[in-house]
Amino acid sequence: MHHFQYKKSELYCEEIPVSEVVLEVGTPLYLYSHATLRQHFRAFDDAFAGVKHLTCFSMKSNSNLAILRLFILEGGGVDIVSGGELYRALKAGVEPGKIVFSGVGKQVEDLEYALKSDVLLFNVESTQEILRLNDVAGAMGKKARVAIRINPDVDPKTHPYVSTGLKENKFGIDISEAPEQYTAAAGMKNLKVCGVSCHIGSQLTQVSPFVDALGKLMQMIKKLEEAGIRIDYLDLGGGLGITYDKEDPPHPSEYAKAIKDELKMTDMTLILEPGRVIMGNAGILVTKVLYTKSIKDNLFFIVDAAMNDLIRPSLYDSYHGIQSVKKSGRGTVTADIVGPICESGDFFAKGREVESFEPGELLAIMSAGAYGFSMSSNYNSRPRACEVMVRKDRFYVIRARESYEDLIRGEVIPDFLIQE
Ligand code: LLP
Repeated sequence: MHHFQYKKSELYCEEIPVSEVVLEVGTPLYLYSHATLRQHFRAFDDAFAGVKHLTCFSMKSNSNLAILRLFILEGGGVDIVSGGELYRALKAGVEPGKIVFSGVGKQVEDLEYALKSDVLLFNVESTQEILRLNDVAGAMGKKARVAIRINPDVDPKTHPYVSTGLKENKFGIDISEAPEQYTAAAGMKNLKVCGVSCHIGSQLTQVSPFVDALGKLMQMIKKLEEAGIRIDYLDLGGGLGITYDKEDPPHPSEYAKAIKDELKMTDMTLILEPGRVIMGNAGILVTKVLYTKSIKDNLFFIVDAAMNDLIRPSLYDSYHGIQSVKKSGRGTVTADIVGPICESGDFFAKGREVESFEPGELLAIMSAGAYGFSMSSNYNSRPRACEVMVRKDRFYVIRARESYEDLIRGEVIPDFLIQE
């Protein structure tokens, strides 16, 4: 069931016309469908029924408190990568026992905060981090549960910026060095080594790289267990892709099917860190056409959202569908959809066939729920967009549009610059 659909010529989110939400809150606007989010979470989580598992939503894809809350109510945990994400997760009410802490550059304060909060697992990524975590835990009189993040050197066959499991990537510890790191960590007083983690990349559209990575990890785990190191948690990270354009990624159930058998025989708890597959197609960015113009043969639709709101096209050359919020029936044209920011990289689509828009009309940038708002910024001093969740025939503002005051919060002009 799709929850962004046309009824006659109007785009609806669940039971509300998108234009009706815009009348109340304006544009640019992130709009999420509650039913879609829940359906995606359940489809993913249910796919792993039959194996002991914990679905830890990767909150870097979208860290709005209301969205986290929704997944908490579904029994989910979260994957965090910073103290700030831990703060948000705890504010939303995530149980610390369902939080896994990943990331290559955890700071001492973050480690302390996570130890104090008693998170489930630290996914450590380097020898120095292992030593530091042992020190910090020792100073606090605590024992940290640790998984070593393994770089299995598997090609995820995705965009180079979001590929993380190749030996040239900065992530994890090389699988060939892992056994000695495990032995060293297992001998440290303030660590309880109990997990293996891995995340090979994002927007994967095939199952085989996951299966390859799992195969390598299982071999390693066997060796570790022979050496007396017991592994209770296997964290396979996130990475399952979605359809932005013509991609045909596996359904979560296919992904689960491909890896479940290996795991049924073991007593380990499987941890998964999905982000995009749950969020991506559950949200759209709604924007208004400000101007239309032609330069030579190029037609431009200048809209009020920009690369500060959704940076994926500029950063990765990513495809996002563009749809009319009200179909005008005017016929299509080929155009560039661009924002108001003073950079040529500020675009959402280039040379795209879309309906011919007039100023004041609305368009929806599709598949924007993941890595949309969470990667937004205030570049060009643009207040960040409003976020709204739709549930059936009602909508809820889950993050107010920023104000000009928000823009300067924390800034100070020193006395010597203030002249009488
Ligand atoms: N776990 C770890 C350790 C990760 O680094 C990531 C994503 C995930 C889980 C979630 O991956 P997902 O299921 O969403 O693929 N900004 C980029 C994506 C960067 C992904 C970074 N890591 C984009 O907009 O495409």
